[in-house]
Amino acid sequence: MKNYKRYTVTAALPYANGPLHIGHLAGAYIPSDIYVRYLRSQGRDVVFVCGSDEHGVAITLRAKKDGTTPKEIIDKYHKKIKNSFEEFGISFDIYHRTSAQIHHETSQEFFNILYEKGEFVEKESDQFYDEEYDQYLADRYIIGTCPNCAFDSAYGDQCEKCGSSLNPTDLINPRSVLSGKEPLIRTTKHWYLPLDKYQPWLEEWLIRGKKNDWKSNVYGQCSSWIKAGLQPRAMTRDLDWGVDVPLPGAEGKKLYVWLDAPIGYISATKQWAIENGKDWKPYWKKQPKSENDSRLIHFIGKDNIVFHCIIFPTILNATGEYILPDNVPANEFLNLEGDKLSTSRNWAVWLHEYLEEFPNKQDELRYVLCSILPETKDSEFTWKDYQARVNNELVAIFGNYVNRAIVLTHKFCNGKVPIKSELYEIDKEVIHVLNSFPEKISSALEEFKFREALGLYIDLARTGNKYLAETEPWKFIKTAPERVDTILNIALQIVANLSILGEPFLPNSSKKINAILNCKQLKWSDSGSSELLKAGHEIGEAELLFEKVEDEVIEKQIQKLKSTAMENGKETAKSVAPQKEVIAFDDFMKMDMRIGTILEAEAVPKSNKLLKFKVDTGIDQRTILSGIAKHYTPEEMIGKQVTVLVNLAPRNIMGFESQGMILMAENSDGALKLLQPSDKADDGAEIS
Ligand code: MF3
Ligand code: ZN
Repeated sequence: MKNYKRYTVTAALPYANGPLHIGHLAGAYIPSDIYVRYLRSQGRDVVFVCGSDEHGVAITLRAKKDGTTPKEIIDKYHKKIKNSFEEFGISFDIYHRTSAQIHHETSQEFFNILYEKGEFVEKESDQFYDEEYDQYLADRYIIGTCPNCAFDSAYGDQCEKCGSSLNPTDLINPRSVLSGKEPLIRTTKHWYLPLDKYQPWLEEWLIRGKKNDWKSNVYGQCSSWIKAGLQPRAMTRDLDWGVDVPLPGAEGKKLYVWLDAPIGYISATKQWAIENGKDWKPYWKKQPKSENDSRLIHFIGKDNIVFHCIIFPTILNATGEYILPDNVPANEFLNLEGDKLSTSRNWAVWLHEYLEEFPNKQDELRYVLCSILPETKDSEFTWKDYQARVNNELVAIFGNYVNRAIVLTHKFCNGKVPIKSELYEIDKEVIHVLNSFPEKISSALEEFKFREALGLYIDLARTGNKYLAETEPWKFIKTAPERVDTILNIALQIVANLSILGEPFLPNSSKKINAILNCKQLKWSDSGSSELLKAGHEIGEAELLFEKVEDEVIEKQIQKLKSTAMENGKETAKSVAPQKEVIAFDDFMKMDMRIGTILEAEAVPKSNKLLKFKVDTGIDQRTILSGIAKHYTPEEMIGKQVTVLVNLAPRNIMGFESQGMILMAENSDGALKLLQPSDKADDGAEIS
């Protein structure tokens, strides 16, 4: 294991547009917090930074939805998010925010460095524009179908399904999130980062350089994007919320949120340094050789990979002054009870609600989430599994072991650490096993295998339980009291080790154990020892570390999710139009509907909606116009049988007389579907 001089650990800055849920914790914050607590316990020099991401369309869209201002949104959620992190013991050295002055300055400085070095390509290009809202449609303002994976709600800058980074014009069927309409195109000037120019550098640094260190899910994604060839990316936007582009002639333009947000890690470090009398530079900037040994690690979820592994490193590298990420241990996604977590559908376990319903049970959630972290593939949280893990592992193994060791000490040894005398084979063995644990857990943690590390940790408690079950000290209290002393001494040493090694995972329980043992938190380097507690040391009363989770409690949570699902179902149902007024049979009979065949089809000049058809209705051949150009091409319509209302009064549309109507079904999302006979029917066949 290499010891670095310094560690700069970042966790993705959450958008301040909503509260946190378990998916956030499982993606970046539990792993980063465990890692940092471990490093600190090792006495390493580490700074752990995070903050709210307060720019970008995620914020302005939320403000619009709530009928308020971006400023109110970020103030509200920054506070909530910060509070949730504190409650769950995510031990940032600073939780900053990107609306801070120091952040605006830092990111503008970055922009200027790159600008002055001539790293940007300035160019006019076509951008989508919403006429109704008089606004350019950057990033999340525009959605459409992903050209790579066909996901139908990809954003203008990224597809969250496959993770690939996009330019708005890559989208198929783009539509404005504001008006829902197809956008217009306007030209505007922006500053581009020529990622294509850095292709060879990325191949060297990432494809060849990170092959053996990076997690395969991260490495694989990155290398396939690089191999596919990188395109220049605009680093500025026409928006009114964000960091101003610091150039004359760029009034009204802002930095791209994915340029400013990762710089937020640096501005947070600066602010931390100011508040703590430190120097931020060694944590970020290249130092003279002997000092040049800082390890930068970004903890993120998989939708952030391209930004942290390709774009931000390219920016850092282009400055020539900054260190590069050493590793980016990104996690995949966490699902909830069989479905994707979703803020808009309220399909989540919200941290603030969990805290209300499970007060003081932060460690339980930390434990369960850590044991199911989506480290190599998507994983799933269910309430039944939560209950099983708490009851069968935390209560039955860990809590039970600690409790037994303490209770027995009070019962047989007056609450004092007894003297260890002659060691039997079984004692030597358990001490040997105990010695080997810290190293095993360390290796797993150093490799970002948090699930494995936690599994090993629980194994240590299991080892303790087994030791007590096999040595049965309660049997010798009359016949061999020194034997009881030896066993309980060892059992207590294991408890002390559980406190040290468990601190990164279960900080509150670790504190409780220290209080019970009546000792202060020890360092990682002390662990493995069977001499942590001196004979004669007085310990405190036993206290239950964990409580069993009852069926009713879990049932209540499951019911809560079920009613959310029902609400969502109703929402969908609402978009089905209500039934119209009842009509008489005669009214129906007035409509003359026939099967017809499309003979000719063509676009209508100056209209992007209409197609003009010549239809054989069996009665005659006639012209009919229909607003289906966005759904069917003229070519694919020719030869199709359709249903035609033939006795509709003729209408003049765009200079043509339309003599009837082709019947269509309309989905709630506006998609149109032709009504066709299930097999070929005769042209002119009547519908009744
Ligand atoms: N706000 C982004 C998200 O939630 C993450 C930003 S990470 C940073 O996806 F690098 F930009 F800070
Ligand atoms: Zn995609």
